[in-house]
Amino acid sequence: MLDFREVTFGYPEDEFLMFDHLSFHVDKGEFTAMIGASGVGKSTIFRLINRFLTAETGHILVDGKDIGVTEDTDRKKKKKLLSGDDVYCGYMPQRDLLFPWRTVEENVMLPMQIRREKKAVCREKAGELLARVGLRGYERKYPSELSGGMRQRASFARTLAVGAKLLLLDEPFSALDAITRASMQEWLREQWNEMDKTVFFITHDVDEAIFLSQRILVLTGRPGCEMKEFRVPLPANRTRDMMEAVEVRELKEQISELLRKEALQWQES
Ligand SMILES: Nc1ncnc2c1ncn2[C@@H]1O[C@H](COP(=O)(O)OP(=O)(O)O)[C@@H](O)[C@H]1O
Ligand SMILES: [Mg+2]
Repeated sequence: MLDFREVTFGYPEDEFLMFDHLSFHVDKGEFTAMIGASGVGKSTIFRLINRFLTAETGHILVDGKDIGVTEDTDRKKKKKLLSGDDVYCGYMPQRDLLFPWRTVEENVMLPMQIRREKKAVCREKAGELLARVGLRGYERKYPSELSGGMRQRASFARTLAVGAKLLLLDEPFSALDAITRASMQEWLREQWNEMDKTVFFITHDVDEAIFLSQRILVLTGRPGCEMKEFRVPLPANRTRDMMEAVEVRELKEQISELLRKEALQWQES
């Protein structure tokens, strides 16, 4: 579903490369988590997929199609790629970024209105999406009238309204309190179980990555960076108590150790 092939990228103001021929993939329909120390470049990967940023060399494929725009992409192709007519991913940032002056419903309608769908159709679809995320009855409320967890669910509904099969979620629960966060994790697993979506989820919490995903990509080795890959030994239908299983605890230790080593290296350099 998502394929990074030898992607090289550095921020113009840095003299080092953030990614030097970085390759990894995310399988279709899978729930994949990406974990890494703060500042390692996780959000940068999402910005590249979103085309907020442009890779220097390499290819980024979504569903087999090259979405990347590099220096040598010809003008016509560039224009088409950047036109926004082919929406191939929905993106949910860390802060919910709902517009405070729009109602919950109007926020969810926005991606569809951008696609110039009829207002009545947008409203109906927004209603369906809000029901799906458990916010029926809150359509006419403003974001400030909702709890943190509810705002995240509204934001998720807006991400779904984009209509893409690939969902990029950047630390969506990191600002929530522990209890709300745990229930949102269970909620998201259920949503994913019921939908035909590929989820790529950034977190810096090892437990969250394990509980949510089937595969974990650990981004390490700044600058340059490489992805290390781990399979999560849990079934599709999972419960919290499975997190205590020996093989899960071992996986947690392995990933934590990798992140600790990385942190030490940063302190030394
Ligand atoms: N617009 C930018 N210009 C220059 N450097 C940036 C920019 N955005 C982020 N960075 C740097 O790139 C690094 C990675 O950022 P980011 O991808 O946001 O990390 P993460 O999401 O893993 O915490 C950080 O060290 C940050 O200082
Ligand atoms: Mg980030």
